[in-house]
Amino acid sequence: MTDDHRVLLLGPPGAGKGTQGKRLAAEYGLDVITTGDALRNNKEMDISELDVAYDTPGGFMDAGELVPDTVVNEIVVTALSGAEGFVLDGYPRNLDQAEYLSEQTALDHVVFLDVPESVLVDRLTGRRVCDDCGATYHVDFDPPAEAGVCDECGGEIVQREDDTEETVRERLRVYEEETAPVVDHYRETGALAEVSGEGSPDDVFDRLTDLIES
Ligand code: AP5
Ligand code: MG
Repeated sequence: MTDDHRVLLLGPPGAGKGTQGKRLAAEYGLDVITTGDALRNNKEMDISELDVAYDTPGGFMDAGELVPDTVVNEIVVTALSGAEGFVLDGYPRNLDQAEYLSEQTALDHVVFLDVPESVLVDRLTGRRVCDDCGATYHVDFDPPAEAGVCDECGGEIVQREDDTEETVRERLRVYEEETAPVVDHYRETGALAEVSGEGSPDDVFDRLTDLIES
């Protein structure tokens, strides 16, 4: 079982898309396509010619708003062109993006990671990430062995700029307004598999591999 899985991971901010996406990619030899990471690597890109609210992707991200579709679609189409099997995390985030995606590729598994909002806020405000390699930790649920130091590469562990409580609340609001309709769309087409994202990361991973292999 290698590279014929095209997996879409849907879920609210903090559901565990990044955590599980990395694990699925390692398990099945897939590429991870994460628009959030791609945008964080291009936060200062000049998009002023689009004449939108902010001149860079980072402006939208730090406010908890969606980056314009043209910017994000371009990232995804480039990443898809080099990928056979993949895990897509963070895209599509509105119905227009979902329509665009359907013109670019078919999907084998569309999975919704279901986690209640009360759990999400704690996961996000407690998240820490390695500034060098991007490894993800949590101050309570998954701390590094040595405080502030990445287990994987020794890099410095920092808080994501959009993980403050105020921005987290706005991201959750934007999710309900823009992205929950995408989940409903896949549910209506019969493509959606719903998996509980509660419990330990190992428990969630077992549910996902059971689903993908069934
Ligand atoms: P993005 O980076 O995609 O953020 P998000 O969707 O808000 O999702 P997160 O990365 O916050 O959560 P996650 O589900 O990956 O959770 P994680 O595994 O880290 O997007 C950021 C911004 O970029 C957006 O706001 C927007 O501006 C822009 N953007 C991105 N894509 C876009 C698009 N398509 N269109 C327009 N704009 C776009 O887990 C969270 C925490 O919980 C971690 O600390 C982890 O250790 C912990 N944890 C995970 N699983 C468990 C568990 N089972 N039990 C306990 N703790 C757990
Ligand atoms: Mg993520």
